[in-house]
Amino acid sequence: MNSDRLLLLAIETTCDETGAAVLEGPRPPAEGVPRIVSSVVSSQVGLHQRFGGVVPEIASRAHVRQILPMIDEALKRAGVSLDDLDAVAVATCPGLVGALVVGLTAAKALAFALDVPLVAVDHLEGHLYACQLAYPDRQVYPCVGLVVSGGHTSLYACQGPLECEPLGGTIDDAAGEAFDKVASLLGLGYPGGPEIERAARSGNPKAYAFPRSFIHDSRLAFSFSGLKTAVLYALRGQNEERGDIQPSPEMTADLAASFQEAVVDVLVAKTRQALKQTGLKRLGVGGGVAANARFRERLVEMTDKMGVETFIPPMSLCTDNAAMAGVALVKLAAGQVADLDVDVTAGLVRPGRGA
Ligand code: KG4
Ligand code: ZN
Repeated sequence: MNSDRLLLLAIETTCDETGAAVLEGPRPPAEGVPRIVSSVVSSQVGLHQRFGGVVPEIASRAHVRQILPMIDEALKRAGVSLDDLDAVAVATCPGLVGALVVGLTAAKALAFALDVPLVAVDHLEGHLYACQLAYPDRQVYPCVGLVVSGGHTSLYACQGPLECEPLGGTIDDAAGEAFDKVASLLGLGYPGGPEIERAARSGNPKAYAFPRSFIHDSRLAFSFSGLKTAVLYALRGQNEERGDIQPSPEMTADLAASFQEAVVDVLVAKTRQALKQTGLKRLGVGGGVAANARFRERLVEMTDKMGVETFIPPMSLCTDNAAMAGVALVKLAAGQVADLDVDVTAGLVRPGRGA
């Protein structure tokens, strides 16, 4: 490897994707956005499908099986060997504790054996840094960061990649989780987001007046559990016995469209509020819900009106992946190296971050 370049192996096992990536970046004190040399992800969706959500124990076991093959594959695709690596990075928070431990253990073992620095990264800072990786020639920071996935719905004010201050988050379900739960109520498949989006195409978004929690509230908070219950009542009626009711295709489409519109309304309104409150002129987005076309359309319409530049990475960088742990190179340049006794943190590291 060229001596003015660093080669980093990045590992991701926070939830249900086992990821490994190789990134190449300038050796400090030189600065610059790293380049993704290779990035591979093994998805566990098939394993969790029949449960309608991620089962933590199954996730941990699958990570154990997949972590070494993924690392081997990432190195192979990058055309490098372990001895070429200058550092190892891993997401240590937030996530499922058993899943996180698998990635961290692999990263520690490699860092120790290769005698290279270990860098612990925050998965959410990684999601937002994915915007910078996707647009290396543009300035993404300072920006408002929005992470909308199956586990997170959070807004941040980011002065830089490592300076993301929480502005607010969900007090109950994450937006993606709401999509998954409502899809399950409607008898649609898992993951629910794409299924709801598909069903919504032929539905009327105004058919049901579902709640938009906190939309007129000055706090930057989200809540989706009331919306989920409202869909349940619309489906089964408040007083009916809870049996399995299969709605007609028309009703499914209307429920899906009305639900999706309610989620999108709230996400767009709260992001607008965050942009107004902070005065920031850029927006970075991460998380699987960014795959939703209606959400993207409404978000960009809103930011265009505000004169805000919006960064939404391609889907492979929006959903969980290891390349986004490339934020480790920023940490490395700042001298933020982890000790080998570093531990995982299942929850959000700083108080105030959304669940
Ligand atoms: O970021 P991600 O791949 O994994 C984590 O949760 O960390 O996000 C997955 C979530 C799921 O809840 C899924 O239903 C949602 O993103 N999702 C969508 C769409 N595609 C995926 N939600 C709405 N519309 C979509 N098209
Ligand atoms: Zn994620």
